[in-house]
Amino acid sequence: MKKYVIGNWKLNPATQAESLALAQALQEIGQKPNTNTLQVGCSPSFIHLSTVAQTLKTSPIWVGSQDVSALGATGAFTGDVSAVQVADLGAKFTLIGHSERRQYHGEDDKILSQKIINAHLADLMVVLCIGESLDEYQSGLAFNVLDKQLSVLHRIDKNQINANKLIIAYEPVWAIGTGLTPTLNEIEKIHTHIKHYLHTQYGANLPILYGGSVNDKNAHDIANCQGVDGVLVGGASLKIDSFSTIIQAFS
Ligand code: PGA
Repeated sequence: MKKYVIGNWKLNPATQAESLALAQALQEIGQKPNTNTLQVGCSPSFIHLSTVAQTLKTSPIWVGSQDVSALGATGAFTGDVSAVQVADLGAKFTLIGHSERRQYHGEDDKILSQKIINAHLADLMVVLCIGESLDEYQSGLAFNVLDKQLSVLHRIDKNQINANKLIIAYEPVWAIGTGLTPTLNEIEKIHTHIKHYLHTQYGANLPILYGGSVNDKNAHDIANCQGVDGVLVGGASLKIDSFSTIIQAFS
C-alpha cells in the first residue's frame, strides 16, 4: 500500500513569510520521493494555504487544509471556510476530526459527518483523525473509543462517501505534542484492529496513519510497524531536517 507522510502545521508559523520559507524548503526535499509509493503532504493554516499551494504547485507534495466547514460551500456562514474554497486554492486533502478540533470546538459526530460529506463533494481526500484520551488508554478502553469514533461513517449515506478518498489517522490524544508514544507493539495492535474493523464494517481497505510525537528519532521504527501506512506529524513537520528524515524513513 502507498505510504503517506503528512505535516500538520496547526496554528504555525506566525507569519506568511515563515510559511513561504517552509514551503520552499519542502519543495526542495519533495522532489525526491516516488509519488507512486509515497505521498508527502502539508497542511498550513487557512490563511497561508494559498501561498503554500502556489509555492508547491509544480511539486508532487500535496497541500491540504486542517479543517473545512460543516455548513455550505458558500453562504451566510460568517467565519467559516468551505471545502470548495480550499479545493479551489489547490488543496488535495483536509484533516477532519483532529482531537484539537474535538476538544476546543466541541466537534461531534453530527458535525464531523457533515464535514466529511462536504469534503468529498469538493473531491478532497479526507484524513479522519481518531484517538483515545489518557484516561481511556489507562482504563483499557482504547478499542471501544476508536470503534465509536469510526462509527461516524455510519451516519453518512454510502453514496456520499468515497472510500478511495479516505485515510484514517490514529492519534492517541495523550501522545500529541507530549513526546510520549504507545509502544510499537501497541501501535501494531491498534492499527490491526482499525483495519479489521473497517474491513468488516465497510469492506474497505483504508490507509491508517499513526500520529502523536513522531520525530526523526522514532520514525524509522514506526515506519516498520505492521499496519502503519504513514504518519501525521505535528511539531516535527515544522523543522525541515526532522521532516526530511521522517520522509526518508517511509521512502
Ligand atoms: P505532534 O502532533 O506530532 O506534535 O505530536 C501530531 C498531530 O497533532 O497531528
